[in-house]
Amino acid sequence: MQSEVQALEAELLALIEKAADLGELEAVRVRALGRRGRVTELAKGVGRLPPEARPEAGRAVNALKGRIEEALLRRRAELAAKEQERRLAQETIDITLPPKERPSGRIHPVSQVIEEITAIFADMGFEVAEGPDVEDDEHNFAALNIPPEHPSRQMQETFFLCAEDEAGTPYLLRTHTSPVQIRTMEAGRPPFRIIAPGRVYRRDYDMTHTPMFHQIEGLLVDRRTHMGHLKGCLVDFIRAFFERDDIPVRFRPSYFPFTEPSAEMDVGCERRQGQLVVGGGKDWLEILGCGMVHPKVLAGVGLDPEVWQGFAFGLGIDRLAMLKYGIADLRTFFEGDLRWLTHYGFSPLDVPTLFGGLSR
Ligand code: DAH
Repeated sequence: MQSEVQALEAELLALIEKAADLGELEAVRVRALGRRGRVTELAKGVGRLPPEARPEAGRAVNALKGRIEEALLRRRAELAAKEQERRLAQETIDITLPPKERPSGRIHPVSQVIEEITAIFADMGFEVAEGPDVEDDEHNFAALNIPPEHPSRQMQETFFLCAEDEAGTPYLLRTHTSPVQIRTMEAGRPPFRIIAPGRVYRRDYDMTHTPMFHQIEGLLVDRRTHMGHLKGCLVDFIRAFFERDDIPVRFRPSYFPFTEPSAEMDVGCERRQGQLVVGGGKDWLEILGCGMVHPKVLAGVGLDPEVWQGFAFGLGIDRLAMLKYGIADLRTFFEGDLRWLTHYGFSPLDVPTLFGGLSR
């Protein structure tokens, strides 16, 4: 019995050592300790021995079983560790690889155009400023040289709120981004060079008007600023924005209470099969309002107009988006239709930059 136990132990331990993975080890376990296993069979044999030989043989077989179980456990731990190491090595993630699929979210054309315009003006040294959507009469009108009863208040159909300020004047939804000019000049010291994108509100609704839309305001204040600076800046802007160097541009005299002189900028365009195409052609399309900041506006925020001059401009973001990307109806911008956004939207990974391309 003794020599049988020894031979079997040597054989089984060799098999355990040889098992290359957890599956093979399990097969060895069944072969040794299973219901028909070699050790199990040996234990059965003990019952067939003469009674005086059984205790010793029984102890020997039990001890063998214990040692085999122990060897199995040790080998199992070894193989499990090896298996984990193999998986860790195999499952590393290379984060420098490009993503497999295009992300499904899309950037709205309004957000895209804000990014594009911001990239252009940031390159010229402008900073982004912000103001509140809910404004007071002072910032939206009075400080911009639009006194009460002034006819230019009717240029813009205003949404008034029920809440009033201390003077009993109702708060309102800003009708343009121009109040950010005032807030910027009140809060800091010149020189100023800011653009202010944001939502504005007017009572209007048709193919080219929605009650909420977007503008970008621009303001530059410095010593000896003149109309030439305004023109150069805006001509460079519009050509960068439409990504064409040959866009015809003209400035037409106009009127805004907060600028003197005031102008509107037109770009040359062409109507092709009902579609407006910017550049070339014989038609002109108004694109923005601008002018030299009115001396009264400067004086109102405590700046001496003899020392400081500035230019300002305001443009409609949605309209520029419609023009650049051929979208016919402004109202569709705000309907939240996923099919529309999938079609007209932009990839979140294509961030507009001047060096990498604005829209490509
Ligand atoms: N605030 C004007 C509007 O909404 C646009 C505008 C015109 C802004 C001339 C300006 C400017 O800063 O100088 O119609």
